This record gives sequence, C-alpha cells and structure tokens, in this order.
Amino acid sequence: MSRIALLGPPGVGKGTQAARLSREIGIPRLSTGDMLRAAVAARTPLGVEADGHMRDGRLVPDPLVLSILRERLSAPDCRAGFLLDGFPRNVAQARELDRIAPLDAVLAFDLPEEVLVARISGRRWCPTCQSVYHVQNQPPKVAGRCDRDGTALVTRPDDSAEAVRTRLATYVELTEPLVAHYRARGILRPIDAHGTPDEVARRVLATVRGL
Ligand code: AP5
Repeated sequence: MSRIALLGPPGVGKGTQAARLSREIGIPRLSTGDMLRAAVAARTPLGVEADGHMRDGRLVPDPLVLSILRERLSAPDCRAGFLLDGFPRNVAQARELDRIAPLDAVLAFDLPEEVLVARISGRRWCPTCQSVYHVQNQPPKVAGRCDRDGTALVTRPDDSAEAVRTRLATYVELTEPLVAHYRARGILRPIDAHGTPDEVARRVLATVRGL
C-alpha cells in the first residue's frame, strides 16, 4: 500500500512530479486541481460553484473538494494506493484524510518565491487533456500546441499575477502548517525541488523507494 501526498506551494512542480511518479510506480495520481478544472469546464453544479474561488486564487470550500475526493478514492484503482496532488490544503482536510485514508508518506517540496513565480509565469496548459508545459523548461515539440492532442496551449486562468499572489499567501496561511502536522506524525519527507524535472524526479523516486 502506498498512500502518498505531494505538498508544496503553487508552481513548485507537484503536478509534473506526480505525473512522472504515477507512471514510474503504477499508482494513480489524484489531482484535486485537475478534477476541479474538469468540473469547471463541464459546467457541473460543483464546477460552477468552484469557478470563482479558483479564478481568484482562493481555496474551494472543503465540502465541495471532499465530495469529489471521496468519490475518487472509492474507485477500484485506488485500492493499491494513490498519489494525492493538491490535497490536503488545510488542517480540516488533513484531519478528514487521517480519518478516511491515512497517508504513509508526504513528499514536501519547497522553493524560493522568485523561482515559483518564474515557473508559473512560463507555464502553458492544455485545456483538453490538462498536460502542463513551460515555455523554456518543458516546451512542447511544436510551439503553442499540446504534444498529446494538438490543442492550442493557453495560460491557466488562475496564473494571473493577482491570483498567484493570493495563491502564495493562501499557501503560507493555510497549507504550510501541514508540514508541522505531518512532521509530528513522522511521515514527512522533504524533497529539494531545485534543478531540472529529471533531477527532481530522481530525488523523488529515491525517496519513495526508500519508504
Ligand atoms: P492546483 O491545481 O492544485 O494548483 P497549485 O497547488 O497552485 O499548484 P500548481 O498547479 O500551480 O503547481 P504545481 O506545483 O503542480 O507545479 P507544476 O508541476 O504545474 O490548484 C488550483 C486551484 O484549485 C487552487 O488554487 C484552489 O482554488 C483549487 N484547489 C485544488 N485543490 C484544492 C483543495 N484540496 N482544496 C481547496 N481548493 C483546491 O509546474 C509549474 C510550472 O513549472 C510548469 O510550467 C512546469 O512545466 C514547470 N516545472 C515543473 N518542474 C520544473 C523544474 N524542475 N524545473 C523547471 N520548471 C519546472
């Protein structure tokens, strides 16, 4: 059983590393951000309610996030484990997770704010399959087009300068306290997020293989 969460500020590379680790160790990546963006795109009632919170860079209310996460965790592919990307985001979510599916490890990523902002400002995103690129660090094969489905890449709606400021402040206020929460439980595994995606992926894999 591998129940792992990736914790860290916006733009640190959680999604990039979760996707690679999921392929490497064969357990599903559960990104609450991707689930919410899919709900927004489909204009479901939950998506309509989440949309404004996300655009402004605020957390989506816990009951909405918990409802989609509970449903996803009950799927058969999560029985052997899962990689949580973007959940939990506050102490209430962490307590609920402790109750329904306690984690084995939390990979905690961090970087200075100027590096986070540089990664976010260069991010391009595929609205069809949610693949993530970076104009310099992870460019697509054809400029401006998704490698997987050829869709025109866009900037994520919550990557505006103002929303990013709110997301960073929200992280410090509500999410960062989880570092102490999981350290106290003895399951925190810090990961140095500097360097290329390959370099970080090697550190992540070594840490997960050592669990
Ligand atoms: P979410 O989608 O979870 O966004 P986030 O946590 O803000 O994280 P990001 O997606 O911005 O960054 P990342 O760390 O995944 O970095 P990435 O790999 O893309 O959440 C979005 C919103 O949804 C929230 O604000 C909230 O409203 C809502 N939400 C989600 N979960 C919620 C929850 N549990 N509760 C309440 N609300 C919730 O990389 C960033 C860029 O850098 C990319 O361009 C990438 O190509 C590049 N890059 C990656 N690694 C490297 C590297 N090593 N070197 C150079 N560039 C790199």
